[in-house]
Amino acid sequence: MCGIVAYIGGQEAYPIILKGLKRLEYRGYDSAGIALIDETSLNLYKRAGKVSVLEDFVKTCNSRGSIGIGHTRWATHGEPNDVNAHPHFSGDQKMAIIHNGIIENYDTIKEELLSRGHTFHSDTDTEVLIHLIEDIQKSEKVDLVEAVRIALNSVHGAYAIVVISKDNPNRLIAARKSSPLVVGIGKDEFFLASDATPIVEYTKEVVYLDDEEIAIVERGEDLKIIDISKKEITPYVQELELHLEALEKGGYEHFMLKEIHEQPRSIYDCFRGRLNASEGMVNLGGITDYETKMKNANRIIMVACGTSWHACLVGEYLFEDLARIPVEVEYASEFRYRNPIINEGDIVIAISQSGETADTLAALELAKKKGATILGICNVVGSSISRITDAGSYTHAGPEIGVASTKAFTAQVTVLTLMALRIAKRKGTLPESKYRSLLNELESIPEKVKKVLDQNEKIQFISEVYKDAENALYLGRGITFPVALEGALKLKEISYIHAEGYPAAEMKHGPIALIDENMPVFVIATKGTSYEKVVSNIQEVKARKGKIIAIVTEGDTQVKEMADHFIEIPDTNENLVPLLATIPLQLLSYHVAVMRGCNVDQPRNLAKSVTVE
Ligand code: F6R
Repeated sequence: MCGIVAYIGGQEAYPIILKGLKRLEYRGYDSAGIALIDETSLNLYKRAGKVSVLEDFVKTCNSRGSIGIGHTRWATHGEPNDVNAHPHFSGDQKMAIIHNGIIENYDTIKEELLSRGHTFHSDTDTEVLIHLIEDIQKSEKVDLVEAVRIALNSVHGAYAIVVISKDNPNRLIAARKSSPLVVGIGKDEFFLASDATPIVEYTKEVVYLDDEEIAIVERGEDLKIIDISKKEITPYVQELELHLEALEKGGYEHFMLKEIHEQPRSIYDCFRGRLNASEGMVNLGGITDYETKMKNANRIIMVACGTSWHACLVGEYLFEDLARIPVEVEYASEFRYRNPIINEGDIVIAISQSGETADTLAALELAKKKGATILGICNVVGSSISRITDAGSYTHAGPEIGVASTKAFTAQVTVLTLMALRIAKRKGTLPESKYRSLLNELESIPEKVKKVLDQNEKIQFISEVYKDAENALYLGRGITFPVALEGALKLKEISYIHAEGYPAAEMKHGPIALIDENMPVFVIATKGTSYEKVVSNIQEVKARKGKIIAIVTEGDTQVKEMADHFIEIPDTNENLVPLLATIPLQLLSYHVAVMRGCNVDQPRNLAKSVTVE
């Protein structure tokens, strides 16, 4: 969380940094700030609130300069006010720093610095770090790069930082550990950012810094990288595959709506080149070398957070049903602190849209230490998870900017389906006819998603009916239970309505007490093994005057008669139902949130990339 961006070159830095901050706002929007060097002065402006608040403020200030740093914050240490906003000055105000991450031992360092006469103005760990750098530079009489290096050797935690100093207006110093940082290399100019989105319109050449690396970007010089033990590193320049159009709303009112509508395309992109139903082919190049290990695994452990964790639950059904491999699904945050039992033959698969989620990364590191093979399913190319895993598959869903995850989820489920099918084929656990029919069905999913999206108006009408609800229940069974969880998460995170997802049969063990005439109950009642059971669960809700909104298979008659409202989805193989049933629930949450006047793309208290524990 927190977005950082910096520029040095021949252009005015402010417009580039401001635009970059807007692109990175999905990472946090509690406050924003900027520091620019104009000839001999280091000008620093910061404001609580969104980047637009900063922009209004800076209108009356001196925003000139061809070198600068900027930050958009998701608060960890200290409330989101002007003072705690980044950048932070050093004590002599000659330097400023921006930081994404947490310095865990900042308290001890702060006490030491206080005893040495430093004064602090904010409650942040970041201000402590810039004072430490300043203290080292002065007391050890070393240059700034060396001071940064020594300071980073004494901090614990996570950081992506950029330091600017008015004593050297031709240089920026950046470093990272467990928080992402990308360097864009232009013609006589450099860009630094938390991800490539602020960079892509200026250059396609980027270098992703690795942990404990320090980048020195200097006018007229090549990019120089050292690690924190002073070893020189040769920069590995990569070509960005990102396209600018993917970062814009393309006529939609919100990114979330655009991303929901992109799903026919993103699901197709996810299996393009990997699936050929007529030839009976599924192939995920990224994991080819690990297929035998997967096939022989005693179990697979899937780790993730939030929506990605729901994708893991779908993956559990798929791997167990198709490939007959036992799967355990773990919240990454719980797994890492539980001294989990991991054996050498175990495979751990991490699923993450951003590839930067701190808990998921830490869970993977733990599993690796204990000898497991670690694989990743990520959306963001070059992200930390994709780089520390032994192998993996990208979801190719394109940038997801709305904070609520939509197309990333269906792409994750698509990759899991492909993986489960591939391993099932290798293991011989699936009859050829079932295998072939699943491949055919998967190929037809993008067209079927379009049909679901065509019902937008009806879903909008249903949203109007329930927009003032205070609570909502989501029920599913088997492979649609994770869909119920995901539907509930979408509603609560963007419309702030309390919502719970439950396995339908569990309702009578407690939640049924909540049912009355004011309780909307969203039920995934599609055709399949549990259909009759779900029908009974619906009757139990109706008997208590609950309102039923059912997701049903086209042509259904029984549930339609009982439901207050229904949304039809095309018929498909039961294993693929999550790819269709999730979509009306995404749309419904979106419309309810818009009708309630909520900020759909940037819901309160959230950030897209959770890089803190
Ligand atoms: C919900 C949502 C979050 C993320 C979670 C994990 O809509 O977006 O729950 O799914 O923070 O993020 P990634 O997938 O980036 O690891």
